[in-house]
Amino acid sequence: NELGLVAVGFSGGQCKPGVDAAPMALIDAGIVEQIKNDLKYNVTYDDKVHAYNELMPTSDPDYRNMKKPLAVSAVTRALSAQVYEHASKGRFVLTLGGDHSIAIGSISGTAQAIRERLGREIAVIWVDAHADINTPETSDSGNIHGMPVAFLTRLAREERQDVFGWIKDNQTISTRKLVYIGLRDVDREEKKILKENGIKAFSMHDIDRHGIGRVMDMALGWIGSDTPIHLSFDIDALDPMWAPSTGTAVRGGLTLREGDFIAECVHGTGSLVALDLVEVNPSLEAQGATETIRAGCSIVRCALGDTLL
Ligand code: ARG
Ligand code: MN
Ligand code: MN
Ligand code: MN
Repeated sequence: NELGLVAVGFSGGQCKPGVDAAPMALIDAGIVEQIKNDLKYNVTYDDKVHAYNELMPTSDPDYRNMKKPLAVSAVTRALSAQVYEHASKGRFVLTLGGDHSIAIGSISGTAQAIRERLGREIAVIWVDAHADINTPETSDSGNIHGMPVAFLTRLAREERQDVFGWIKDNQTISTRKLVYIGLRDVDREEKKILKENGIKAFSMHDIDRHGIGRVMDMALGWIGSDTPIHLSFDIDALDPMWAPSTGTAVRGGLTLREGDFIAECVHGTGSLVALDLVEVNPSLEAQGATETIRAGCSIVRCALGDTLL
């Protein structure tokens, strides 16, 4: 049971400071000890929350409507190499963010390593209130944390090497192997993108209708057994009752148990190769920060095989 941990203290994919403090908060809450001692993983961790200060440009003007394009591109490029390093050695990769733009780095790194090591395409399960599939042109906010899926699937592309042009074909993912769970705040243009590309998505409506048990059966059935899975978990998938400290909270979300259940089911496939936990922002709704951090730790433990009995 080998696990590589990357702590990413980065907030440049959106505008609210504080999400960069999440990795340290999760680590202070004991997540690494729990992974080592309770779940018996052998953890490879450089004991560092990466801020990538050396990569920060002195000037980073908007480009194609994207905010901080150079910073987000440089950080995700560096993270991609870090994740690739772990995954190519056969380690499970846990990436603690940071805002959700960092998934451009973590998922591209996993996709490349699994292609090279196993000759397989990865599936991605994206648990989120949001689809994060805006292109630079469809985005109203210009925040890149609303765009990672578009760049990873090549629905958005850019030639400039310093603005995601570094993403190689073997680092991309297929829209057919992408499944969303928990959606409830999808922009109009994003709905069009999901529809036109036939992307599988289970909204909160589907969870209300079928229950989380059947939704997980359907989601995992869509991916099929024996496909390596990268789980990208945005804490705002949970209802603000359980995770209030996040930058774009949306009411009507998953209960803590439903979130844990998703993670347990994905672990149960035996195919999970990487996990992101993102968008915890301890400085927002500070009274709820402890709750939010505890929820994040719980999701991580469940995805790594913690069981109730
Ligand atoms: N759809 C909105 C946007 O494009 C919100 C995205 C929220 N993303 C997130 N990772 N929390 O800006
Ligand atoms: Mn979200
Ligand atoms: Mn719009
Ligand atoms: Mn997200």
